[in-house]
Amino acid sequence: MSTPESSSQPSLVQQSRDGDILVLTINNPPVNAFSPGVPEGLKAGLDAAAADDSVKAVVIIGGGRTFVAGADIRTFDMPREQSPDLRGTIEKLDAFTKPTVAAIHGTALGGGLELAMGCTYRVAVPGAQVGLPEVKLGVLPGAGGTQRLPRVVGAAKALDMMLSGNPIRATEAGQLGLIDRIIDGDLLAGAVEFAREMADARPLPRISERSVPGATPDVFAAARQGIRKTHRGQLSPSLIVDLAEMAAAVPFQEGWDAEATKFMEAKDSPQSRGLRHIFFAERESAKIPGITKDTPTTEIRSAGIIGAGTMGGGIAMNFLNVGIPVTIVETQQEALDRGLSVIRRNYENTARKGRMSMEDVEARMALLTPTLDMGDLKDADIIIEAVFENMDVKKDIFTRLDGIAKPGAILASNTSTLDVNEIASVTSRPESVIGLHFFSPANVMKLLEIVRAEKTSDTVLATSMALAKRIRKVGVVVGVCDGFVGNRMVHRYGDEARQIVEEGARPEDVDASMNALGLPMGPFQMSDMAGLDIGHAIRQHQAKVAGQPKPDGWLDRIVETGRKGQKTQGGIYDYDETRRPIPNADMQKLIEDYRAEKGITPREITQEESTKRLAYSLVNEGAKILEEGIAQRAGDIDVIYIYGYGFPAYRGGPMQYASEQGLKNVVADLEKYGQTPAPLLKRLAEEGKTFAQYDAEKGRA
Ligand code: CAA
Repeated sequence: MSTPESSSQPSLVQQSRDGDILVLTINNPPVNAFSPGVPEGLKAGLDAAAADDSVKAVVIIGGGRTFVAGADIRTFDMPREQSPDLRGTIEKLDAFTKPTVAAIHGTALGGGLELAMGCTYRVAVPGAQVGLPEVKLGVLPGAGGTQRLPRVVGAAKALDMMLSGNPIRATEAGQLGLIDRIIDGDLLAGAVEFAREMADARPLPRISERSVPGATPDVFAAARQGIRKTHRGQLSPSLIVDLAEMAAAVPFQEGWDAEATKFMEAKDSPQSRGLRHIFFAERESAKIPGITKDTPTTEIRSAGIIGAGTMGGGIAMNFLNVGIPVTIVETQQEALDRGLSVIRRNYENTARKGRMSMEDVEARMALLTPTLDMGDLKDADIIIEAVFENMDVKKDIFTRLDGIAKPGAILASNTSTLDVNEIASVTSRPESVIGLHFFSPANVMKLLEIVRAEKTSDTVLATSMALAKRIRKVGVVVGVCDGFVGNRMVHRYGDEARQIVEEGARPEDVDASMNALGLPMGPFQMSDMAGLDIGHAIRQHQAKVAGQPKPDGWLDRIVETGRKGQKTQGGIYDYDETRRPIPNADMQKLIEDYRAEKGITPREITQEESTKRLAYSLVNEGAKILEEGIAQRAGDIDVIYIYGYGFPAYRGGPMQYASEQGLKNVVADLEKYGQTPAPLLKRLAEEGKTFAQYDAEKGRA
């Protein structure tokens, strides 16, 4: 281990010496982002090294858990002249006349990897990861990444890394020539040794002076074709391809300058604002007032699941995937066998696609214990009920569980609409009861609504949040109300969609209006997939509870013809073998007859009207949910919509989308289309605020 003599400076970059090597340590926890103070410190270090003949080379390393994880995303909204000068720092490195070595552990992402590529050499520990994830924030590598990465790893690999945004391991980066030496053992000592070895090597191998390997026209054409599928409607991916092509075609300086201009264009786009909003909203959603890292949690070593249907099976897979044994309960052997075979088939399909081995399939299945006896759940640390939505059935299960589960076990319901307080009330331990609302398909969808009931204990809540992370879900805490956050909003959205058709639009036009916003499925494509009978049953139930007559809308009439959606090979639409929705003339006729019977003269409804009415119906219900405290933050609602309902991340979720449109305009449009704006929405509009400002003010209060 080297023992640099430290010189303490009040800076984010500490200078120390190890003989003839100057070590610059960046200390900007938690992730050493390139914040104000970092460039100043690095430049000062380089100046010191340039002025001192006894310094032969410079090592740049990150203090704490990582190298630089990128530009400081929080500075993106700063005026340009105040934002940290990453590009200037890299220019200085590129022009530097002594060797510089980036020593990487943790992650070198975005501006972090760009900084490293501005150095003469890069060394890393084997577990380090390097990548350019900017596309995930709607921007592009803006400090030389688009120009340097293709020069090192070739055009195709650079495009792959920049367009996926996914990092690669240092060992792979070593094979690609992006890392010059893998250091097993002490990173700083290894980096200093490497720097000393290279101290006199000249000329310095600057990446900016290389050409781009493998830059054939077909590589760029394939990338352009690929992003039409993977990044439909997005700006930054096509800018990335253009810039990578420039890297191969024009002198370095020209590409470097173009990159700066394009970076600003992408950074100032609503798409990037939306993606950045989601980056922080997702992290914020993990924070719950009153719950700290000192809140006790219990360890989850085993799970019990009641119900081996689509939901129960999908939920079980999440646990099996991370090595948690599951006992799954059904009432009938046949249903149990069916459930198990679906789980096995899902895993085997994954294995067939090469994403897991057959040994992995067997290992996961071996963790699964099927049973018809609920008593077998007596040792489970968490039990999740996933049977159909019926309060009496759920109450019966929870009454029995109360007598079976060990003390301290979490008793969770996967209900998507029912009152978790009422479910908890039948047990002698309501503090152990919580809602864990998974989204279908539960083994795929990332969202987990964590429903905090009146008496849920902090330990149960904190354990559920930790569990969400462990099973790789995004957990968002919500309160109890009919449909919680996601489904309550989607019910309102469905009502509006049916209303738009009633007034004159065709279902396919309504769906197209949401596809145009970037949602893969419009409201009717979604309900055909979920099963039309579900919404139908909910409407019937709600009418009964409210003492209203049996609902008889055009969609109820479709369900009554026996068409329930994709599961009956047709609903609002017909489906071909690729599950493409095809408008059905009989259903269109049914809708026209319905309008005629009700005396409705159909009118032309523009795509713009349809998009606004649908998106703003979500926003309006979201504002009510926020006001009632069912969601903690507008950002939480956005996270729910992105991970649970396919709302495009680059729009930032419905609430952020509304803020981008201007809440004043949203209120005006709601009124124009006959909806009553929620009081909170109206107030924010009058004050000229956004939902993000509302969250920030609430967070400070
Ligand atoms: N800027 C500002 N804050 C950042 C940040 C960044 N680049 N990266 C992480 N943070 C913050 C997070 O918001 C979080 O803050 P809170 O604790 O207040 O919530 C904290 O650092 C820890 O982050 P995570 O909870 O995500 O920690 P993790 O260990 O799970 O993951 C990580 C660490 C892999 C670095 C992950 O944070 C990450 O992926 N960060 C973003 C990396 C990135 O996108 N870099 C490119 C930036 S754009 C750029 O560099 C542009 C350019 O070319 C000039």
